[in-house]
Amino acid sequence: MSQVYNIAVIDGDGTGPEVVREAVKALQAAARACGFGVNLARYDFGAERYLRTGEALPDSAVEEMRKHDAILLGAIGHPTVKPGILEKGILLRLRFELDQYINLRPVKLYPGAECPIKNKGPEHIDYVVVRENTGDLYTGVGGVSLKGTPHEVAMQTSVYNRFQVDRCLRYAFELARKRRKKNTLALCGKTNVLTYVYDLWERAFREMGDAEFGDIKREYYHVDATCMWMIKNPEWFDVIVTGNMFGDIITDLGAITQGGMGIAAGGNINPGGVSMFEPIGGSAPKYAGQNAINPLAAICAAGMLLDTLGRVEAAGKIEAAVIEVVATRLKSLAAGKMGYSTTEVGDMVAERVAGGCRAPQPEACGNPRP
Ligand code: IPM
Ligand code: MN
Repeated sequence: MSQVYNIAVIDGDGTGPEVVREAVKALQAAARACGFGVNLARYDFGAERYLRTGEALPDSAVEEMRKHDAILLGAIGHPTVKPGILEKGILLRLRFELDQYINLRPVKLYPGAECPIKNKGPEHIDYVVVRENTGDLYTGVGGVSLKGTPHEVAMQTSVYNRFQVDRCLRYAFELARKRRKKNTLALCGKTNVLTYVYDLWERAFREMGDAEFGDIKREYYHVDATCMWMIKNPEWFDVIVTGNMFGDIITDLGAITQGGMGIAAGGNINPGGVSMFEPIGGSAPKYAGQNAINPLAAICAAGMLLDTLGRVEAAGKIEAAVIEVVATRLKSLAAGKMGYSTTEVGDMVAERVAGGCRAPQPEACGNPRP
C-alpha cells in the first residue's frame, strides 16, 4: 500500500478558497505522479463561521489539527470582522499552540517574474528568511489603561527567552548548511536600540556559531539597513534569521522583490510536529469571487508542504511547473493581469505536474530538507 498523508485544509477568507482549490489540484497531481496519496479534511474556520457561531476557533480545533500530517491554509482576515480577532483567534493561535516556531519565507525570483529592482534578476534574488514565529511583540504581553481618555496608556512588549532564540538560530544555521549556497547566515536585529532583546539574539548567535557552526559565515545587519540591502544588494543574502516582528515586515519587502504577493509562500514549521503552509499575502477580499487572484503563492505553499513531509520529488515537480508557467505563460503575477484566470493558471500548473517534469530542483521553493 502506498503512503497516504492526512492534510487539513483551511480555505479561510476572501480569495482563500479560490487559491486553495488550485493548490489542492497541484498537490493531488504531484501525489498521483509520485505514487502516494493525500487524504484531505476540510475545515471552515474564518470570518463566516465566526460571524455565525461567535467563536474564531472551536476549542477542539487545535487537537483536531494535531492529528494531521500538515495543514494547508488559504488566508485569514475579512473586513466584516474587526482586525485582530480572526488573525489572533485562528492564525496566531494555531502558530502558537502547534508550536510552529519557524516561519520560513523563501525569497526567490523566478525567470520571467517582474522584479521592481532595476538591474536585478533571478541570479541576484534567492535567499530565505527564517522568521521566529512564537515570540516578540506577538505574545500579547502588554495592556492598556485609561482607554479613551487623554491620558490613555498603551504598552505592547517584545518578549524572548533564550530557548526560543536558540532553537530558531539552530534551525537557521542548519538551513544555511543544507542550502550549501553561500554558507552564510545573517542576523537581522536592532542592537543599537533594542539593547535587551537583540543583545540576547546577538550573543546567542555568536555563541552557537562559534561552538557548532564554524563552517557558516556570520553577518549582522540592523533591520533598517537590512531593508536597504534587500533592495540594493539582495545577492548578498543566503539565509536571514530574525525575530517575529522584523520578520513579518522584511518578508513583505522580500515578497515584492520576487514579483509580489501572487508568488510569495511561507511555512509555519514545527520541525517535530504539525506544520502549516500558506500564501503570505492575505485574503485580498476585493478580488474574492472574481477568479482573478494569482494562485501560485498557494501552489508554492503546497510545494513547501510536500517538501517538509520529505516528498522532495513531488515538491520539485510543483516548483518546476510553477517556473515553467511563470516563464512561458503569465503576462504578470498581479491579480487580474495574469492573462489567465485563477482556475486556468491552476490547471496549467497541475497539467505540467502530471505530465512529468524535470528532475527535482535542489531547492524546491527554497525550503530545507527534513
Ligand atoms: C503574516 C501576516 C500575519 C502576521 C497577520 C495576518 C497576523 O501578516 O503572516 O505575515 O503578522 O504574522
Ligand atoms: Mn505579514
